Amino acid sequence: MQTSIRKQLLEMFSEADGEFISGQAISEKLGCSRTAVWKHMEDLRKEGYELEAVRRLGYRIAGKPEKVTGNEIQLGLQTEYIGRYVHFEETVDSTQKIASRLVYEGAPEGTVIVAEEQTAGRGRLSRQWHSPKGTGIWMSLILRPAIPVHQAPQLTLLAAVSVAQAIEAYTGLSAGIKWPNDILINGKKAVGILTELQADPDRIHAVIIGIGINVNQQKHHFADEIQHIATSLAIEKGAEVNRASLMQAVFAQMEKLYKEYLQNGFGLIKMLWESHAVSIGKEITARTLHQTLVGTAKGITEDGVLILEDKSGNIHYIHSADIEI
Ligand code: BTN
Repeated sequence: MQTSIRKQLLEMFSEADGEFISGQAISEKLGCSRTAVWKHMEDLRKEGYELEAVRRLGYRIAGKPEKVTGNEIQLGLQTEYIGRYVHFEETVDSTQKIASRLVYEGAPEGTVIVAEEQTAGRGRLSRQWHSPKGTGIWMSLILRPAIPVHQAPQLTLLAAVSVAQAIEAYTGLSAGIKWPNDILINGKKAVGILTELQADPDRIHAVIIGIGINVNQQKHHFADEIQHIATSLAIEKGAEVNRASLMQAVFAQMEKLYKEYLQNGFGLIKMLWESHAVSIGKEITARTLHQTLVGTAKGITEDGVLILEDKSGNIHYIHSADIEI
């Protein structure tokens, strides 16, 4: 099927929001015969769309393929700009790298880069992020906020809250956040977030928020040595999760919180972050590049920095570390 026809059709179904569209309406919109409409529907079916055809009512999309090529993300997307432009690649080294390039090329705010597989996925603290084919959401999102550079970490926390809320709403699982932005389901890590900045000392060009969500992996997909700390949504839920729909839920949540943040500042995000935090008030070990600190996690500052009180009552401000609870 021609890309433009597929796009037009999916837009129509997206606007219909799950309702039937008559064959007549489709043929008028596309300017083709009813037989051609039927053929286009068969093509969509072959691509994995679940189509319902009812006499006198027309056609309705009842389910979409378990893919993230961009079409699936557009169908039913509720946002104004996050996820409206999707750059899809089957295999990449890292979506963060592509995002960096697109930022230079002027990609608009809300652009999303997504891949079925990453061969060199990047994690925090120079770690690797395992991103096997077709099982997870491996994406980078470009934002261009007009905020001071030192406030950029707030967006990482905003992203963590958005993903946690979207997972809870879409899967019914309960999601906790381990500082700064690991999302844990039943105590195991299911999501990692890596934020990278393109900025001059006094101006942000773009914030690239890299989000890795373990969605449909089974236990054997995780190496033996991380099986006790890593998990996927499917393992915890006991059923597969549609990745494109979950991405839409993340985008909707993120756009809502981002608008609120730009208008009213970090207050609400901080509160929401703290309400999901699993480490606050607990005894933690924080391993920074230079030292290991043990103490109680007291909360976060306005800039998203972790506050730790050690046994002697000294307060430490932690900007980057690995946390053990
Ligand atoms: C972490 O270490 O917890 C952060 C992991 C971030 C992984 C995501 S997957 C999509 C994006 N592309 C990358 O190379 N990394 C991020």
